[in-house]
Amino acid sequence: MIDLRSDTVTKPSDRMRAAMAAAEVGDDVYGEDPTVNRLQERAAELFEKEAALFIPSGTMGNQIAVKVHTKPGQEVVIEERGHILNYELGASAIFAGVTIRPVKSADGSGMLTWSEIAEVLSTDGIYDHTQTGLICLENTHNLAGGTVMPAGQIGGLCDRSHSVGIPVHMDGARIFNAATALNESVADLTRNCDSVQFCLSKGLGAPVGSILLGSREFINEARIWRKRLGGGMRQAGILAAAGLIALEESPKRLHEDHENARRLAAGLADLPGIGLDPDRIVTNIVIFDIAGTGRTANEICNELRDRGVLTIGFGTKIRMVTHCDVTRQDVDAAVAVMRDICG
Ligand SMILES: Cc1ncc(COP(=O)(O)O)c(C=O)c1O
Repeated sequence: MIDLRSDTVTKPSDRMRAAMAAAEVGDDVYGEDPTVNRLQERAAELFEKEAALFIPSGTMGNQIAVKVHTKPGQEVVIEERGHILNYELGASAIFAGVTIRPVKSADGSGMLTWSEIAEVLSTDGIYDHTQTGLICLENTHNLAGGTVMPAGQIGGLCDRSHSVGIPVHMDGARIFNAATALNESVADLTRNCDSVQFCLSKGLGAPVGSILLGSREFINEARIWRKRLGGGMRQAGILAAAGLIALEESPKRLHEDHENARRLAAGLADLPGIGLDPDRIVTNIVIFDIAGTGRTANEICNELRDRGVLTIGFGTKIRMVTHCDVTRQDVDAAVAVMRDICG
């Protein structure tokens, strides 16, 4: 099977498995797991933040950030296709007691401008307005097709947001993909963000885990919420050992996934009925429209599956994601199957 459903489907490398088997461990709820501590220290160093926390998933990291930054009854501003709004099962309403204000990005990139954000902010303390408690950014933006926001733009948004007293959380599930595409450091991309969540288990190829970063005070509070949510893991060094390899080694090869995604997009864009601008593909996510084929996304995805290619369909769109377990040959094979189906 060529699995293009997501970059979450990767299997740990032999090196990761060996490191997991040999990992030095302790009870991380007591802060005594040396491998987890090393991973957290290394992540904080790379992102130039005061502190980091190893957490089971990106969703937990985002939700802890929402909880710590906001008060119940406030609202969180986010681009309308953001993960926190669409794929975290209403968790912010349940755990933080906040509502979400979705904002459309006019150019379709998923990257909001300050004027788009400013239009919906409520910071005046007037009693009959829901007050904005947090702005969430997503880089790369998953549903917008792996689009990226450069450091200068993020820094500008954070400055404007801080000037009206609102913190910014970065859902950086794929921030290393953004850093690779933009040739900027993850530290620069997130410098002015009050908190950052990034996934070890996506493009970086670790089996499990994310990291939440921020000030020491923020992370101390986040540690309490991690435990409340049942995310206090014990000998988690077994997982952190793979995470350390992911963090050190995987960013160096992400450009290959991006090259494969561009190759995939170029092949697909030539097919009849496919709506796709290959110039918009800058990281590892390829989303294209199939309305012009006269078929439904489900029909095409099922046919692809029967012929050995796994993808995800939603509405009139199909998503294909490249990752470390997808080769250039796999990409060419997937395009060939699509050509048979659509040609
Ligand atoms: C942009 C984004 N944020 C957060 C997450 C959540 O990560 P996890 O699946 O580890 O909960 C995902 C997962 O696909 C994602 O794409």
